[in-house]
Formats: sequence, structure tokens, C-alpha cells
Amino acid sequence: MPVELIDPEPCLNDLMNKLMTSAGQIDFNIADLPAMPEPQRVLMVEPTYYNVDYVINPHMIGQVGTVKRERAQKEWEQLASSFQKIGLEVIKLAGVPGLPDMVFSANQSLPFLDKNDRRKVIMSIMHTRQRAREVGHIEKWYHKNGYDVFHLNPDNIEDFEGMGDAIWHFKRKLIWGGYGFRTSRYAYEQISEIFDVPVILLPLKDERFYHLDTCFCSLDENNALIYPPAFDESGLEMIYKVYENVIEAPAEEAIGLFAVNATCPDGKNVLIQKGCTEVARKLNEHGFIVHEMDTREFLKSGGSVYCMKMLLW
Ligand code: ARG
Repeated sequence: MPVELIDPEPCLNDLMNKLMTSAGQIDFNIADLPAMPEPQRVLMVEPTYYNVDYVINPHMIGQVGTVKRERAQKEWEQLASSFQKIGLEVIKLAGVPGLPDMVFSANQSLPFLDKNDRRKVIMSIMHTRQRAREVGHIEKWYHKNGYDVFHLNPDNIEDFEGMGDAIWHFKRKLIWGGYGFRTSRYAYEQISEIFDVPVILLPLKDERFYHLDTCFCSLDENNALIYPPAFDESGLEMIYKVYENVIEAPAEEAIGLFAVNATCPDGKNVLIQKGCTEVARKLNEHGFIVHEMDTREFLKSGGSVYCMKMLLW
């Protein structure tokens, strides 16, 4: 009798490698996408050399030299121990002199676990020369730890800033791909191919929200937290089509406190900057456990909770 070969992920073959730019192209249910486990650990870079030494985003204007070192160290440690408290292993890498922004470890790479449980990672091409050297330092760690390391072909891609712009849908093989300020749209053609996953493309409109992680937070499979004015109409339509519930952050909290740069690694506990009262209330209402923390010294550089760690598989 002939043996029938069963594709482990039926019907989704057409979807793989697909880049989506409008709601009409989203013809799948999230629950039907291949699953991805929750991340078990985070990678953080010690803030020893953290400072605002130059201006490469609007939040850094007027902040050069204003970082209070001891306070930054304390905030970073509190964040690291909060990740541990919610059950994640924290891997701490030493900082490097002359690379003050390396502490934003969401930016230098994009890791992935493939269907054979192989660990893979795509390294970033930083948009600014000030941050370019960070990538090599992070890459060394991936090599030592057995990842298959990939580089984008830079021929038609100027930049790609890792998980600052490419955000995994919680527990699914789907990427939300922000572009416009720090990442080139064409980066996603290669990323989608290397990882064999679909990407929903989101153009970013407002330079204060220069990375997708400043205006979009994937809370769990059905809930997202966003700052709507940072997107165009078709971007918003796609977000609302995929998520059952979208929590909207008010301007004061999204701009001044980086409310959307929160992180929810387990679909339950949300770590967020202190003082985001309205967002915290809405998160509670939807059953999330909110942990407020102070990242004031890092807000001066245009970053908060989410971008100070890399989620690892
Ligand atoms: N000063 C850093 C920069 O402009 C902050 C990066 C924050 N990272 C993030 N994913 N939002 O590159």
C-alpha cells in the first residue's frame, strides 16, 4: 500500500515567505500558524559604559552627558531581577567602552528557533555608524553558544535593527516588521526567506517612534498594546485584523514614558515603565499582571524595558 506523506504544517506552505502589506492579504487565523515556544531566557548587556554621548533619535536631544551612572546601574539591576522573578534566565554580557548604546540589546540581532529546534540568529546592520561595532560583540556570544548565525546581504539593504523592529508574534512563527527609520523594508524579504516565516510589514510614520518596539507590543497571541498615531491606516487595519483585542496607549504615556516599550515574555507578566497609569489599568482589566519599574535614565536615550534585553530561545 502506498504510504501517504503528511506535511507537518499543511496548507501553510503558500503563506511561508509571504510579506503582507494590507489586511486583505491576511487570510489565516493566528491559531493555525506554526507554534513557537515561549522564550526561556533574556540577554542583557551591563550598563557600565552606558551614557548619552551623541544624538541619533529625538529623545536624546538635550540629554548628552546627563545620565546619572549609579542610578542607571540600579535601574538595570532591578530590571534584570524582575526578569528572574518572572522565571526567565538572565544572561549578562559585559559592556564595551565606546559603545554606550550596546545596553539596548534588542537591537543587534533577531533570534529564532526553527521547526527542528535549531537555534538561529540574523545579525543586524545598524543604521548609525555610532552603533555599528556593537553587532560583532553580540555575534561572538551567539557563535560560542551554538547558534547558526546569518548575515543579510547588504547589497539592497541599508539597515536592519534586529528585534527593535522585527517582533515575533507571541508563540507563533510570524514576524511584525517595522521599517522606515532604522530598518529597510527590503530586509524583510531576506529575513522571511532565511527563517521561512511570513512577515506583516508596518511602515513607521513618526520619528519619535523610530523602532517598532516603541509603538507595538505583542502581549500574547490575542492581545497587543500599541500607540495608533505611529502607524498608517493599512498598518492599523492589519493589527486590528490579527488581534482580538488591541490596547491603545494615550500620547502622554507613549511619548513621555515609553509605555509601549513594555515587554510581556510569558503572555501574562508585563514589565513596564513606572507611571503609565492608564496603560497599567487597561492591562489589569485584560488580566495581565503589571510590574512597574523605573527606567528613567534609559528613557533619556530613547529606550526602556523592552529594548534593554533580547528574548532568546
Ligand atoms: N539610543 C538608542 C538608539 O537610538 C536607543 C535604542 C532603543 N532601542 C529600542 N529598541 N527602542 O539607537
